[in-house]
Amino acid sequence: MITNIGTILAQKLEGKDVALRGWVHRHRVSGNMIFIVMRDPTGIIQLAVKKDKVGEKDWKDANNAYVESSFTVAGRVKKDDRAPGGYEIEASGYTLISQGEPFPISKDLSDEFLLDIRHLWMRSQKMTNIMKARHQIVNYLREFFETEGFYELAPPIITRSGCEGGSTLFEVDYFGEKAYLTQSSQMYAEVFIFGLGKVYVLAPSFRAEKSRTIRHLAEYWHLEPEMAFYDWKMNMDLQEAMVKYVCGKMVGTQSELLKACGRDPEDLRATIEKPFERMDYAAAVEQVNELGGKMEWGQDFGADEEALLTKGSPAPMFVTRFPKEIKAFYMKEDPSDPEVVLNDDLLAPAGHGEIIGGSERIWHYDELIARMKEQDLKIEDYQWYVDLRKYGSVPHSGFGLGIERLVKWMLNLDHIRDAIPFPRTINRCYP
Ligand code: 4AD
Ligand code: MG
Repeated sequence: MITNIGTILAQKLEGKDVALRGWVHRHRVSGNMIFIVMRDPTGIIQLAVKKDKVGEKDWKDANNAYVESSFTVAGRVKKDDRAPGGYEIEASGYTLISQGEPFPISKDLSDEFLLDIRHLWMRSQKMTNIMKARHQIVNYLREFFETEGFYELAPPIITRSGCEGGSTLFEVDYFGEKAYLTQSSQMYAEVFIFGLGKVYVLAPSFRAEKSRTIRHLAEYWHLEPEMAFYDWKMNMDLQEAMVKYVCGKMVGTQSELLKACGRDPEDLRATIEKPFERMDYAAAVEQVNELGGKMEWGQDFGADEEALLTKGSPAPMFVTRFPKEIKAFYMKEDPSDPEVVLNDDLLAPAGHGEIIGGSERIWHYDELIARMKEQDLKIEDYQWYVDLRKYGSVPHSGFGLGIERLVKWMLNLDHIRDAIPFPRTINRCYP
C-alpha cells in the first residue's frame, strides 16, 4: 500500500517497510549510492538507493533521474539525524513513472523567469507552503461565516456597471454590447440580504490597475459579506472578530506552516489579544503629519502614509469616517458630520496596508439618488440597485476583504503576487 511522507514523519514508522509515490526534489550520486530527496504533497524525505540493494533497471532509472522525475519507491524507514525531517528510506525498489526532461528551474533564477514558468514554479516548496496556508486561511474564513449564520452566494462576474468608479473597469464585448468584469460583488450581495439576512460572496474582482505595486493585482479574490440591520460599528466588530478568528486558528493549528512561509506565529498573537485601534480619518491625517508625512484633509492615504500609521503597531488598525468625496457613492453620510461617511478601512501592520474596506450603505432612495447625481453617475445604469431602496429597504452594512492582501500580511510575503497562483498584473497574463 502506498503511504505518504507526512505520515512517515508524523508516525515515526521506524523499521517499517513502506511504499511512496512522488517526485525527485534533489538528486546526488556518490559511488554506489544515490541520494534522492523526494517530495510528495505532504513533505520531503531522503531516500538512499544502494546499488546492491535494488535491481539493475531500478538502479539505472534512479541514476538517470532528473529533478522532478516521477517514481514509486519501496523501502524501509530508518532514523537518520542528518536527513531532512530526521528519517531516511533505504530503498529496495525504485520504479520510474516518468523521467521527463531536465527541469528548467535551478538555483538563483530571476523573479521574472520564475513568473514565466509559474506553472512549474508552483511545485516549489515555497509556493506549495504558501498555497497550503492560503487554503487554510480561506477555510477558516468560511468556517467563521458558517458559525455566524451567513449564507454564501454566487454573484455574476460579467456586469453592466462599476461599483468602485470607472477608471479601473475591464471592458468586455458582450454579444456586441458593452459590459464589464466585476470590480466588486457588493451590489449583488446587497440584493441577497433581503431574502437571506446575512450573506457573503467569495469571487474574483477585477481592477484594471495601471499601477505596478507590491499590493495590486488586476484580478484578485474578494470576500464580501453584507448584513441586514448592521450599522457601521457592528460591521467593524464583525471584521475584527473575523480577523481574530482566522489568526487564532492559524496560530493554534498551523504554526509550523506559518514558520515555513516566513511568519513567526508570535507576530500574529498580538492580533488576537487586544482590541484593534479605531481612529478617525481626521486624527489619522494629523498623526501622519506628526510622524513626518505630509498630507491634507481630503487626500487619500497612499502606501507611505499607511506605513507611517501602522508603524510599531503589531495588530491591524481601523481608520474610520473618510471624507465623502474620496469614497464610493453607496456609503452612508455620517448624520453628525455631512462631510464624512460611516466607513472603515482596516490597515494591516508593518506597512502591509489596507486589507478591508467597509461601510454602512445608503438605504434611503432619495439620499442614494442625490449622491449618485453628485458623483455624476447615470441612474439608468444602476436602476436595479436603486430599486432595492424602493421596496422595504432596511439599514445594512458590509465590507470587502482582499484575500491576497490578507494572505500577504498573514504570511509576511514581500509581494502580493506570491499570494495567488497565477498573478495578473499590468504586464502579465501568462501563463
Ligand atoms: O476598498 P475596495 O475597493 O472596496 C470595495 O470594492 C467594496 N465594494 C467592498 C465592499 O464593501 N463589499 O476593495 C476592498 C478590498 C481592499 O481593502 C483590498 O483588500 C482589496 O479589496 N483590493 C485589492 N486587492 C488586490 N489587488 C487590488 N487591485 C485590489 N483592490 C482592492
Ligand atoms: Mg478601499
